[in-house]
Amino acid sequence: MAGVFITLEGVEGSGKSTQLLRLSERLRHLGLPLVVSKEPGGTALGRELRRLLLEPHPGGESWAPEAELLLFYADRAQHLKDVIRPALEAGKVVLLDRFEDSTRAYQGASGVPEEALDALSTLVLQRLKPHLTLLLDLDPEASLQRVEVRNLALEDFNETRFDSAHLDFHRRVRARFLAIAEREPNRVAIIPAREGEDAVAAAIWARVAPLLRTAGFAVDVERAERGGHGGNAENAEEGIK
Ligand SMILES: Nc1ncnc2c1ncn2[C@@H]1O[C@H](COP(=O)(O)OP(=O)(O)OP(=O)(O)O)[C@@H](O)[C@H]1O
Ligand SMILES: [Mg+2]
Repeated sequence: MAGVFITLEGVEGSGKSTQLLRLSERLRHLGLPLVVSKEPGGTALGRELRRLLLEPHPGGESWAPEAELLLFYADRAQHLKDVIRPALEAGKVVLLDRFEDSTRAYQGASGVPEEALDALSTLVLQRLKPHLTLLLDLDPEASLQRVEVRNLALEDFNETRFDSAHLDFHRRVRARFLAIAEREPNRVAIIPAREGEDAVAAAIWARVAPLLRTAGFAVDVERAERGGHGGNAENAEEGIK
């Protein structure tokens, strides 16, 4: 597969969407062919699933962990088929706000056994792995505080399900992310996320630039002339929070 596949992971409020936007702007400025997306909800059908997964049900019902798991993988299968694989096959850089590690961390922390996660992963991903995963690591006390401040500013905010879960749960999620990083140190880069936005962006760039260089993209020269050729970020402005 010719493109470069990069995912951002981490607990709520760790700064994934903030950094995804910064990184995508940087890559677009360099003129790289770019697809920016997120999970759940990277396709039109997936957005229906995102709503079902994240909005509180009016009747107060909540998903069984196994049902939730299947919905996340349904979203992912569609996303892979319609967005991720075609973009990689076309040689593009694909940037995702959350991917499979989030399912492993959150659904794992909700009690789904490892074997079930492995089985669905084999079925849906068929061994496709990101080339690089940037794990924004922050303790949940700090990250949930950021979420609280952010949500106060968002009038139409309604994706509160995971935010309101217990601090303990978020601690387990963080531990699972870190365990994945320990298991796959070549893929997963732990990025300390407590620093200011600029410092985090610099740490991210230090991991991304060499990868893109190796893949043959020119990342060291700012493009002088960009009018109409400045990359083609798809989905970039839409729906990344
Ligand atoms: N390095 C930083 N220092 C302080 N505040 C930050 C930093 N990065 C992001 N923020 C702020 O923290 C809040 C959460 O950031 P952001 O929405 O990017 O996190 P997220 O990981 O995408 O969260 P979620 O998982 O809920 O989508 C935002 O209000 C953002 O402006
Ligand atoms: Mg976000």
